[in-house]
Amino acid sequence: MQLLKLNKMEVGIYPGVEELAQRVSDEMIQQVIGKKSSVICLASGDTPKRAYEIFVQTIINQSVSLAEVLFVGLDEWLGIDQTNTGSCYSFFEERIVKPLGLPEDQFARFDALATDSREQCFAMDRLIESRGGIDLMIVGIGMNGHIGFNEPGSSWTSATHVVSLDETTQTVGQKYFQQKTEVSKGITLGLGQVMTSRKLILMASGERKAGIIQKTLQWPISEDLPATIVRRHPQSMVLLDRQAAGML
Ligand code: GLP
Repeated sequence: MQLLKLNKMEVGIYPGVEELAQRVSDEMIQQVIGKKSSVICLASGDTPKRAYEIFVQTIINQSVSLAEVLFVGLDEWLGIDQTNTGSCYSFFEERIVKPLGLPEDQFARFDALATDSREQCFAMDRLIESRGGIDLMIVGIGMNGHIGFNEPGSSWTSATHVVSLDETTQTVGQKYFQQKTEVSKGITLGLGQVMTSRKLILMASGERKAGIIQKTLQWPISEDLPATIVRRHPQSMVLLDRQAAGML
């Protein structure tokens, strides 16, 4: 592993996806062992899949109790049914909730079909606040530099909100669905919640992320490039495989 320091922030570069996933899983395990009532916010998407697999396996193998942990889903496609395999709800159901046998209320996710999506936002904000805030947040990065569905230009003080997704997100998002699916809106935790999480891990892998990772770490910190928030966060790290770090 190669370790860079950018101001105080750790940038870990791993030989491949497996080593990267292992490190992210280790961080998650450390968190749930160190604080039994941790609040952990997780991104869906392709990047963290293997990390979650290792995490689940380790929890089972070592019989770690998650009884007091609250997991929170970072974002969701609005209007997409929970049973759609492209939904974030289903992603977590299949990869974390079912394999760990977690009670549904231990993994807070958005109801993407709710008639009042603003109430969904308030409910998520209230829940996170009632649990004392987010301890660990694992996020990926969109091809346009978004975090969750916080698209370029999003406010760094925002709480949970509904977003009109930009074209890149709508196009790239098709990869999660089995057939062409209209995904023009999303619901997401805000960058204010990213910023106030006690620990933030941004992970990325693969050559196609190299350009946006280079901008995130080397371009000016700006709301136009939401992922640059990692450089403002007091306790953040960026964990990459060698390909995603290829342009640094
Ligand atoms: C998606 C999600 C994010 C995710 C990111 C990267 O659109 N809204 O939560 O982290 O984009 O996805 P992937 O890991 O599939 O590249």
